[in-house]
Amino acid sequence: MKVCKTIAWENEKVILLDQTKLPLEESYIVCDDYYAVAEAIRKMVVRGAPAIGVAAAMGIALGALSTKAGAYDDFKQQIEKLCQEFAQTRPTAVNLFWAIERMKNLVIAHSDKSVEELKTLLRKEALKISEEDIKVNRQIGQMGKELIKDGYTVLTHCNAGALATAGYGTALGVIRAACEEGKKVSVLACETRPFLQGARLTSWELKESGIATTVITDSTAGYAMQKKHISAVLTGADCICLNGDVANKIGTYSLAVLAKEHRIPFYVAAPLSSINLNFEKGEAVLIEERNEREVTHIEGRRIVPEGVKVWNPAFDITPSKYISAIITEKGIVKRPYKSNLRKLALNII
Ligand code: MRU
Repeated sequence: MKVCKTIAWENEKVILLDQTKLPLEESYIVCDDYYAVAEAIRKMVVRGAPAIGVAAAMGIALGALSTKAGAYDDFKQQIEKLCQEFAQTRPTAVNLFWAIERMKNLVIAHSDKSVEELKTLLRKEALKISEEDIKVNRQIGQMGKELIKDGYTVLTHCNAGALATAGYGTALGVIRAACEEGKKVSVLACETRPFLQGARLTSWELKESGIATTVITDSTAGYAMQKKHISAVLTGADCICLNGDVANKIGTYSLAVLAKEHRIPFYVAAPLSSINLNFEKGEAVLIEERNEREVTHIEGRRIVPEGVKVWNPAFDITPSKYISAIITEKGIVKRPYKSNLRKLALNII
């Protein structure tokens, strides 16, 4: 099964598959400074919470390599500045902040090391975060595949696949794992206006992997649930709160409400690094609002009359009461989410 490479570190540069160009063009951008990586995250050249985390870690490592700081305190200050810069790129993706903390804490924990040694450590840590992400996604796939039975049609939203991670994917990783076991699974991909992650990216990567996929407009989802025998809805997450509320791509909430009405299970697949135990419930999550041009224009052409107001939140919150289970690398979490997520995230099961 072909799986695409989203992010790579090569010769002290960060290479990113340009997701703004897919599926028409498979091209890569080469970032030789941290600023280019931060800009690529902002412009969604690289997107998806885990991939954003990996890209930011590599961006910080890249920035660290070029600092002129000679002494520890100066170096630490430079790293903190870099971290602040990356923290402002995509505010909802919790993996971004998780990865930033890992990089920052590494510097704090090694105050005895020389600046050159710290640079090497940061580069190693960024690569480790990337490798771990692929491993974790495969584990999520193994945990979740039992929920996806032979003959299932799974509806998914946005792109929670190899493109949204360092590889393999979370929600799409679960589907991959079920297919790798020989199950026949087909996917209904919501197009996901306005950035069209479903139409452009999920369909592209599933086609590459030979998984049967049908793209629908977002507004077809309810009708599809009535008519198409959807077996399950499966999405990723940008942030999971302690009570099980999930922030994910705008439109996820509508799908969850529809799924409940049609008695279709609604599953979320995400790594433990997507859980923010400090967020008691969904209200705590900062929802990114993106430029109105994403809505007003298609392929550079205006489709909304000049002067008309536009609101473009990139994510919404799905209350946990609509979520049948959360699939993580350590197991499938069900209600009561608060105690079960805490036990799992703190690794005391
Ligand atoms: O705006 P995006 O494309 O970064 O949004 C991505 C999503 O909403 C994904 O579902 C989520 O990040 C999980 S990706 C494994």
